[in-house]
Amino acid sequence: MITAQNKTFHIASDNTSYIFRVTSTGHLENLYYGRKLRSSDNLKALYSKRTLPVANAVYYSESDSNLFLETICQEISTPGKGDCRESSIVVDYNNGMETLDFIYFEHKILPGKPRSFSGLPESYGDKNTCTTLIIKLKDTVLPFILTLYYTVFEKTDVIVRKTVFSNNTDQSVTIRNMASSQLDLPSAHWNLVSFDGTWARERNITKRPLEQGITILDSKTGVSSSRHNPCFFLEEKDGLDCYGFNLIYSGNHRELVEVSPFGHTRIMNGINPSTFSWVLPSGDRFQTPEAVMTFTHDGIDKATQQFHSFINNHIIRGKWKHRERPILINNWEATYFDFNENILEEIAENAASLGIELFVLDDGWFGTRNDDTTSLGDWTLNTTKLPSGLDTLSETIHQKGMMFGLWIEPEMISKKSILFNEHPDWAVIIPGREHSTGRNQFILDLTKREVREYLIKTISDLLLYANLDYVKWDMNRIFSDIFSTHSYNLREFNHRYMLGLYEILERITNSFPKVLFEGCAAGGNRFDLGILCYMPQIWTSDNTDVLSRTAIQKGTSTGYPLSTMGCHVSASPNHQTLRRSDLESRFNVAAFGILGYELDLNKLSIQQRKIITNQIVFYKKFRALFQYGLYFNIPCDENHIRWGVTNFDRSKILVLDFQIKTEANPSFDIIKVPFANPDFDYYFRPRAQKVSIRVFGDLINILSPVKINSEGKLSKMLADNYSIPCEEEGYIISGDTLAYAGVKLNSQFRGTGYNNQTRIIGDSGSRLYVIQRVEKENLEKK
Ligand code: GLA
Repeated sequence: MITAQNKTFHIASDNTSYIFRVTSTGHLENLYYGRKLRSSDNLKALYSKRTLPVANAVYYSESDSNLFLETICQEISTPGKGDCRESSIVVDYNNGMETLDFIYFEHKILPGKPRSFSGLPESYGDKNTCTTLIIKLKDTVLPFILTLYYTVFEKTDVIVRKTVFSNNTDQSVTIRNMASSQLDLPSAHWNLVSFDGTWARERNITKRPLEQGITILDSKTGVSSSRHNPCFFLEEKDGLDCYGFNLIYSGNHRELVEVSPFGHTRIMNGINPSTFSWVLPSGDRFQTPEAVMTFTHDGIDKATQQFHSFINNHIIRGKWKHRERPILINNWEATYFDFNENILEEIAENAASLGIELFVLDDGWFGTRNDDTTSLGDWTLNTTKLPSGLDTLSETIHQKGMMFGLWIEPEMISKKSILFNEHPDWAVIIPGREHSTGRNQFILDLTKREVREYLIKTISDLLLYANLDYVKWDMNRIFSDIFSTHSYNLREFNHRYMLGLYEILERITNSFPKVLFEGCAAGGNRFDLGILCYMPQIWTSDNTDVLSRTAIQKGTSTGYPLSTMGCHVSASPNHQTLRRSDLESRFNVAAFGILGYELDLNKLSIQQRKIITNQIVFYKKFRALFQYGLYFNIPCDENHIRWGVTNFDRSKILVLDFQIKTEANPSFDIIKVPFANPDFDYYFRPRAQKVSIRVFGDLINILSPVKINSEGKLSKMLADNYSIPCEEEGYIISGDTLAYAGVKLNSQFRGTGYNNQTRIIGDSGSRLYVIQRVEKENLEKK
């Protein structure tokens, strides 16, 4: 609900209030964003007080010499009128003038959320789920209009903002910065939580206390990037208040947090001004991407849940919204570029028999692509590898009862390609300057209409010809050497590229509403809300190492729902780290997302087949929880990682207990599940996973009647055919005991013997605990 009384605006969601007012000078002063207030009457106590002047500062006007814009919390900020913090809007007019002063002009409140048709992806909702406030501000001197949009999604406690600038002068002007949103908080006792990294280390969590000055998280790579994700949080240093922020955009972005000398915190996010400016002709308008924010008094886990719910309900759209996503097999790490029809069909046959639902043919199926130096842009079949055609392969896969999906990388062009020979000017290359390239490939100039039309036609034809159910849309490099033969100012290129990409995605996904699209960018280099408006899931990282994945998935899931995260079980040793790990543990971690397998199914041992078959049965049984359950990080010591998911009434709970490294003579583990329903009784047990007999090494000889060389063929043969069940352990436990005291688990192996209750976990080992409600009448039977 949004109310406007006495020029005070109260944007209320189920649990939060966001309140600002129009000051006597017409500026918008933020009064409060936090736990819900019962009304916005009598808020004078929250007005910033102007009882004395501030020294060495600029007062706003002669008539109000106690108003210092530098010291008040504002909804937007401009240069030139005394607020010397970072400005949210900077426009260059009249040859370098930048002073602007926006004051209130008019507002309206609408049920639902109007679509803007701006070419940018946006959140959506109807009058039952959201309300929108539109406020117009005008400059005190020039005919510039600034329109602020606030949409509150009541149930998810999320507010979405965007800003539109209209140039009603008769000159063109240059926008140098235009943040999507600005929030000024009257305090500075915050930790900044961000998601940072690079290839194969995406979205690892960084937490730092805010100090005076500016902290910037950003991307200048051309895409939202793995360097710094647009999502971030502010956590109260000594309490549980938490704000979450994100941006619906996939290009260069900037998140700026500034603590002023007066102890205020300014937070703004939007397009990165360091790689952007925009020439706005007379009579034209410019719209920012949408910014997303949330607040909770219950800590970051709750903010995470609010974002998950918002994304699942108001970002993801189309047929796959709220739908359980298929388990896939991807041939990339099984074959790389080296495959033929027989190999693929055998993998598909194995996949179908294991219960896998979607077969994805990755890179290398087109042009003459046998390595990564060639053929991007030529989206025609490699007939040497696939002489019978993609349509035939697709039919074969469908006959096996699986869906068929294909990898493409439409935004790219290889120099060695027919497309490059025909259209060298379509590649983003500066004539006369040596190009600094990435992965031997060049970016297509999506700012050109003819390039967009070519891609839409080519990809649409391919989808029809191969009868695709799924597309993995990859984008494997970052931008360099920016140039276009088009006539606009090149500082507009990055944003124009995004608008071009969004037009392509909009048209293709609308034409193929049943197809499941998965975003990808050298793993997770473009994991953002812009992509999720078109593609309901994204490949989280090329790194499938089980230990690395705990950090990558933990960071990613703090901002994005598990239903958006592609998570695969791959081979051991892992191809990115060479670390060896247990197949069961790889599954336990990958299950917290959209499960896939990316290893050579044609080489599985009997044991591995059995293990994977059981994993898939288990995942299908609990898939709704793994993809859409309420998600929690469970507090534990530094050697463990614990995640939990549960359903709405908390009658079913799954908990991952992951151990980073084995301790000798280890301490005794206790698992607490703080979110268990205290009024329920539960049955608690580990998923029935297997332990390889090879973990015992030479110790196997203590039990074996014949001498076994643990490095020899017999040992391998035994391990390929047999494994032992994990420990027997199961308890009936009341929800309050589980939540407040926890379960004291059986001892881990400690070098003093072994029996069927011994937990063998190991380095990067894990268990998945299944905790299900037991009705009173069944308690006896258990
Ligand atoms: C990227 C993707 C991988 C794979 C390769 C193929 O690295 O992230 O999953 O598709 O490209 O070249």
